[in-house]
Amino acid sequence: MNEEIPNLTAFDEAALDEAFARLERQARAAAAALDNDAAVEAFRLEWLGRKQGRLNEVSGRWLKAAPAEAKKLLGVRFNALKAVVEGLLDAALGAGQDGSWGGAALAAEAIDITLPGTRRLAGAEHPITRTLNEITRVFAALGYSVGVGPEVETDFYNFESMNFPPGHPARDTQDTLVVAGQERRPQRDRLLMRTHTSPVQMRTMEQQPPPVRIVIPGKVHRNDAADATHSPIFHQVEGLCVDTNITFSDLKGTLDHAMKALFGSAVKTRFFPSFFPFTEPSADVQISCIFCGGKGCRKCKQSGWIELLGCGMVDPAVFAFAAEKQPGYDPKKISGFAFGMGVERIAMMKYGVSEIGSFYAGDMRFLSQFA
Ligand code: DAH
Repeated sequence: MNEEIPNLTAFDEAALDEAFARLERQARAAAAALDNDAAVEAFRLEWLGRKQGRLNEVSGRWLKAAPAEAKKLLGVRFNALKAVVEGLLDAALGAGQDGSWGGAALAAEAIDITLPGTRRLAGAEHPITRTLNEITRVFAALGYSVGVGPEVETDFYNFESMNFPPGHPARDTQDTLVVAGQERRPQRDRLLMRTHTSPVQMRTMEQQPPPVRIVIPGKVHRNDAADATHSPIFHQVEGLCVDTNITFSDLKGTLDHAMKALFGSAVKTRFFPSFFPFTEPSADVQISCIFCGGKGCRKCKQSGWIELLGCGMVDPAVFAFAAEKQPGYDPKKISGFAFGMGVERIAMMKYGVSEIGSFYAGDMRFLSQFA
């Protein structure tokens, strides 16, 4: 228990300093011993209580008794002491919240410098992030810029502007997760989770006239049941190149280079006819099996080839949508190619991962292998 507040007899600076320092020592000692909520409340009442608090008493007795010329000096010290006591109270309340009580906590915090230090694990890039960065770097080295777009997308950008008209059967191949409560909006404005990164092609073209060379990494969503190779959320890297005289040979050369950069220079590519609404002609790109070198194994189902991405020449209908905002995209004057690849699929191949779910499970035994 603290002693009573004495009467002050001298009001010179030295006397005031000493009197206040003494009170501060008492407050600090009391605060250091606090170790439970009730004690903190008692401390608050004892020091800051409106009627019987010690500070109230100090201001009542000392300030009143002080000669006029000492009041200012006294007031300054009083305010400083009050700030200290309030700070002590705050700290004690904080200690109550995180469980590190005053005195005991301080003792526990004392550092024994002879003990070994706490080992801090270094963070590491997630394999998906790493693969995504690796892909974008390959294209950045070819002069491509990097862009992004929204994951919550409109029907217009995700489908219509990519040449999937309303009701087009190709929409069914992308099991779409739609945002609820959009029925009253016109179809083109309805929101959905983007099913591919292709809509960012249109967003990019609307923002800048040709020429364009851009890659767009990002997350996409589909109402797919999860299995060893499917996840309702996954990642893609989209590519778009538009300029005068861009041909299918440019597309082949670019992707052949990219696959060699990603999987090693021994890898071969081949292009198979395919269909995407936003490219014409469209192709699926296969690479020679990186596991057996093309001889045929279980991974490539004995074919020697593995299908890896989609691509094609940008459909004039897509340029027509872009030309509404940027007249430079006149399909008579320019041409271009686009491609889209799944990041998980590439990461699974590069790192020999057989379950896509391993990327999302947060299991340190899996993730630390990439550190
Ligand atoms: N958006 C397609 C998908 O998710 C992938 C794709 C194919 C993108 C061909 C393209 C492309 O840009 O040209 O299945």
